[in-house]
Amino acid sequence: MTNQFHEANRRRWDAGSESWARRADLSGTWRECHRNPSLALHDAELRWFGDVAGKNVAVLGSGDNKVVFALSGMGAKVTSIDISWQQLIVARHRAAELGLHVEFVQADVVDMSMFNDAVYDVVYTGGHVAHWVSDLNRYYAEAARILKPKGLLIVKEYHPIRHMWHPFLNLSRVSSNCLHQGVNYFERGPYRSEVAPEVLPVMPGGLEQFIFHWTVADYITAISSSGCKLIHLEEFDDSQESWETTPLAGLPASILFIGRRCG
Ligand SMILES: C[S@@+](CC[C@H](N)C(=O)[O-])C[C@H]1O[C@@H](n2cnc3c(N)ncnc32)[C@H](O)[C@@H]1O
Repeated sequence: MTNQFHEANRRRWDAGSESWARRADLSGTWRECHRNPSLALHDAELRWFGDVAGKNVAVLGSGDNKVVFALSGMGAKVTSIDISWQQLIVARHRAAELGLHVEFVQADVVDMSMFNDAVYDVVYTGGHVAHWVSDLNRYYAEAARILKPKGLLIVKEYHPIRHMWHPFLNLSRVSSNCLHQGVNYFERGPYRSEVAPEVLPVMPGGLEQFIFHWTVADYITAISSSGCKLIHLEEFDDSQESWETTPLAGLPASILFIGRRCG
């Protein structure tokens, strides 16, 4: 079961997949992540994964799959889950090129009914997935459902404080030298825009996309009511990302939540 917002976002990612792949090819890091996981995962995240060799790990909203390749290189048995077939097709080719064995499954993160309960040791999600999802509670409840008792839910997201200043939510107000508040911190959306097949540019009359803005409290509430106990919360990175078009240095870039599945 999906919804009109996710269906539009799926079409947008299917169309945008080629440009996302080109972008990843430019940096080329996807070719190295399986040998050097720190290209895809921050030390703060790697600490929580620990030794994942032989463990079942699901990555939700896997996108460019750099995290998937990193975890696979660390010896985990990884399932890569994304709503976009096109994204998965690109990732499948890349995994084959790297000689990695990964399971690829097309699913909406709010409905992963094709998976049984309690099959994964770790579920990882993030890196700009939550803002595509209309229902944070169902998203993390599904993540918790497929986790084994005591398994870890690792959520690393773009920080809501930076998100509200980023032109994601108001793509017509891009400026390289001053900040424009994109949204009121408490207004969750949906934020509808029409965009080019390339992933970031706005294009009136183009493809529809719907983005949501979640607060720190929304994340904490959704994880705490998912069947997981929130055991750790951390914020890191304050530098400007290469793809950011406004001067966001000094604002926290990432927020990490660790939940442990109740037994
Ligand atoms: C910006 S990428 C994030 C992943 C990765 N960090 C990256 O940079 O490629 C967003 C990904 O989330 C996926 N996605 C969006 N909505 C989704 C949903 N409801 N269920 C599963 N995947 C979803 C998109 O197809 C896309 O591949």
